[in-house]
Amino acid sequence: MHSYYLTTPIYYINGKPSIGHAYTTIAADILARYHRLSGKQVFFLMGTDENSQKNIEAAEALGREDVQVYLDEMAQVWKKTWEKLGITHDRFVRTTEQDHYLAVEKFWKAVQEKGDIYQGEYSGLYCKGCEAFITEADLQDSLCPHHKKAPEKIVEKNYFFRLTKYRDELLAYIASHPEFIMPSSRRNEIISYIEKFMTDVSISRASMKWGIPVPGDEEQRIYVWFDALINYLTGIGYGKDEKKFEQFWPADVHLVGKDIIKFHCALWPAMLLSAGLPLPKHIFAHGFFTIDGEKMSKSLGNVVDPIEVVESYGNDVLRYFLMREIRFGEDGDYSFARMEERYQGELANELGNLVSRVCAMTGKYLEGTVPEKVDYQAFSEFIEQYHSSIQVFEFDRALDAIWMIVRQANQFVEQQKPWVLAKEERTEELASTLYILLESLRLLAYLLLPFMPETAEKILEQLGISSTQKTSQPFFDLLVWGKLEPGTKLNPGTVLFPRRESRES
Ligand code: MSP
Repeated sequence: MHSYYLTTPIYYINGKPSIGHAYTTIAADILARYHRLSGKQVFFLMGTDENSQKNIEAAEALGREDVQVYLDEMAQVWKKTWEKLGITHDRFVRTTEQDHYLAVEKFWKAVQEKGDIYQGEYSGLYCKGCEAFITEADLQDSLCPHHKKAPEKIVEKNYFFRLTKYRDELLAYIASHPEFIMPSSRRNEIISYIEKFMTDVSISRASMKWGIPVPGDEEQRIYVWFDALINYLTGIGYGKDEKKFEQFWPADVHLVGKDIIKFHCALWPAMLLSAGLPLPKHIFAHGFFTIDGEKMSKSLGNVVDPIEVVESYGNDVLRYFLMREIRFGEDGDYSFARMEERYQGELANELGNLVSRVCAMTGKYLEGTVPEKVDYQAFSEFIEQYHSSIQVFEFDRALDAIWMIVRQANQFVEQQKPWVLAKEERTEELASTLYILLESLRLLAYLLLPFMPETAEKILEQLGISSTQKTSQPFFDLLVWGKLEPGTKLNPGTVLFPRRESRES
């Protein structure tokens, strides 16, 4: 069986998850569900980045003396959010856990044996917000442009990683593997960074009290990014379960936001080359979105809590909206007005109505029973577009393909007018029309499963497809015309997207 290993960033837990974190996580969940349905053995990894100064400072600001207890509580908040959002990860790594400590130690030693760690004096700037060493050239008005705060001046003895040793190898790898960094705009950005700006990096901190100790030098703690990236190995048993590790490494894809590509596309691959491990197949960096045109920030007070959205609209609507509205890989805007529009238009009027009309007509004219099969060749190009788009992380195009089917089916209802066929007693035509529509709904439900799992399940249930029957065949076989069996009894169900109370804007 083929395996598919995918990851999200492990998030800092100095606050609650925002809709930005949910964005990456939902995209990953869609991929995980898609590849599982396709019959692959999927391993979907998530986690929390806990050895960060930010987390420690958040604990201190709250007067919490026991940092670990604070981290345990926050990790719980994050896990609960993902549970509530229906995320289907297989493992959740916390970087304060024992397995991770052991993996980091093993990795450090491998890099050290390669001769890629040396001691030196670091004298420069550090931005806590970025958890990164930065240069004067990065600053705007003496402040970090991302966090609008003055960086700390640091002079300390550190361990350094010979990142520059891998410059040529990295550039050659990127050139010969165009699919390694996606989309291509990010690839160009990284090439220019590696060529012009990349230097060796300090990978330990002498002044930190929290974090993983440097093997053999307890006075120093490992730099949080060097530690965090290794979670992608910890999660699949590096240093603990070699069999599992062999099965899943290299990762098929690391999904990340565009803010952290230097770490993922330069530092991480160089670390892997140093440790003698193969590189991930893809690193996909998506864009950032604003909220109603404004940058999302704590100071503006416009950070959207995904739980609130889900409580109002349900999981599927959030998943649909994020993936349809913001092209994956590009920047975008999350607008509540647009969300409402898409809810009323595409979800309630187009998809919801189609399902309820077709089921109601089958109830009325055919006693709720699936009629004889008929051949119909119409949707194969959309199904192809759906698969090929998901392969290249173009989720909005996959949804476009689904909506082409929704729209064609709605047009088919208008054109065939089953109520006229019934009135004129053209029973054969009526039956074949309804078979085509019911079978279209079945295909739609399967195509929707990765994106809107709750909605897809409801459609299947209304079509009388039981959950055991649901996945009795591989996904690709189920997406073939004519699998809906004549004689199946429909189960009239509830409205998929009920009318919402109009909201104050
Ligand atoms: N802990 C590091 C990642 C370590 S991975 C080895 C980190 N954490 S973070 O909590 O700051 O999360 C950053 C990520 O959150 C982004 O890369 C992106 O996935 C997601 N996003 C946060 N805000 C976002 C938007 N406004 N828009 C899109 N994605 C956003 O960096």
